[in-house]
Amino acid sequence: MGSTSTNKTMQSLNVIILAAGKSVRMKSATPKILHSLCGRPMIQYNTDLVRSLGSLKTYIVLGHQSDLIKRQLQKNMRVVIQRKLLGTADAVKQTLPLIKGFKGDILVLCADTPLLTKETIGRLIKFHQQTKADCTLLSCAVNDPRGYGRIIRGLNNSILAIREEKDTLEDEKSIKEINTGVYCFRSQILQKAVKAVNLNQKKKEFYLTDVVEFLVHNNAKVETLQTEDATEGLGINTRQDLLRAEKIMRQRILDRLMHQGVAIRDADTVFIDHDVTIGQETTIYPFSIIEGDVLIGRRCKIGPFCHIRSGVRIADETEVGNFTEVSRAKMGKNCFMKHFSFLGDAIVGDRVNIGAGVVTANFDGKDKNTTRIADDAFIGSDSILIAPLSIGEKAVTGAGSVVTRNQTIPKESIVVGVPARMISRRTIK
Ligand code: UD1
Ligand code: CA
Repeated sequence: MGSTSTNKTMQSLNVIILAAGKSVRMKSATPKILHSLCGRPMIQYNTDLVRSLGSLKTYIVLGHQSDLIKRQLQKNMRVVIQRKLLGTADAVKQTLPLIKGFKGDILVLCADTPLLTKETIGRLIKFHQQTKADCTLLSCAVNDPRGYGRIIRGLNNSILAIREEKDTLEDEKSIKEINTGVYCFRSQILQKAVKAVNLNQKKKEFYLTDVVEFLVHNNAKVETLQTEDATEGLGINTRQDLLRAEKIMRQRILDRLMHQGVAIRDADTVFIDHDVTIGQETTIYPFSIIEGDVLIGRRCKIGPFCHIRSGVRIADETEVGNFTEVSRAKMGKNCFMKHFSFLGDAIVGDRVNIGAGVVTANFDGKDKNTTRIADDAFIGSDSILIAPLSIGEKAVTGAGSVVTRNQTIPKESIVVGVPARMISRRTIK
């Protein structure tokens, strides 16, 4: 779908994201949707997706720990509070006064299905509008339907209802087509249908899924669209679900990077977060973890056994090798840091060599301090750099030196020992 047609479609669309639930099954003090999925809070996948579609207004229904979640949201989200968690239909009901006069379509989705893609949701909206349906829901064919609402179909294959796991009859349990919890409604139809939902006696909740049966009984036009990729409908209720989602998302990230020209040597032991950017022809070796917001240039070599943490910037053709950690650091072009080193809160110039076992002692027990290493410096093996300090251009620290805090090592000087003292100037050819 081109951007012009997306925008046109979206001009008549509002979105409701359901996120008030208590996430009991995670057994965690942190709200489920703030749990990290490949380096960002789970909720961010759907809020970003909705924003990229260009929805007119987006309402997010919060309840449990709403203050914590609110802080993580973009400003343009309209927060609606569900005071009592009485189910998904009740959650939608809280938004109805706000969308009362709205005549377009409403997309409803859950915050705990982070694997949905923009393409699929775009297809759903387009299908809903082309078929002029009153309600179109996104279904998904899965191998293990346990825990999901099942799609119940009639003789002519048209949808009759969604049956929640607890209410399924024996022969319905094997139905593999499930409800993803994503629906498009005509706004006015949603108003009527949600109000008509009765309390589910088993769970003492109002189920949004019950609107389907109501609409079918009232001769409304209900359509379904199935995802092409069965993983998109994965709902995160437990920590096992979250791990499953991580694996799928991780593979998607690796696929995207490989598509952009990054060499990945092993998909099973390379962990790269969603917001990492890597340049063409960089190679990532096995057992590498690259977390959060990281930028790596072209033709770099990263790993094996390397941990690069959020905030790191690495310029082109730099090598960060075995058993290394880089944290909140900036490394210039053509640097080498190949074995057993820790670089934290550092600003490193171009063509710097960081020998085996070099450590920046960045934390003094209270503050994190900065290490500055200028272009062409050579940091000898096992040097300890006690920050804050600064190493000049082309300076050398001998093996095993300890450069103490607040020092400025002049350019082209050679320092050795504990604490490191100058022994000569470097002769540069
Ligand atoms: C729901 C669907 C099920 C579907 C599955 C897809 C219902 C009744 N069932 O089940 O058909 O297969 O999602 O993942 O809708 N929420 C609120 N307020 C509440 C209760 C829930 O906002 O009072 C929110 C939750 O935060 C969550 C979403 O609604 O984001 C779904 O709730 P959840 O309890 O996870 O429903 P499921 O059992 O997964
Ligand atoms: Ca769920």
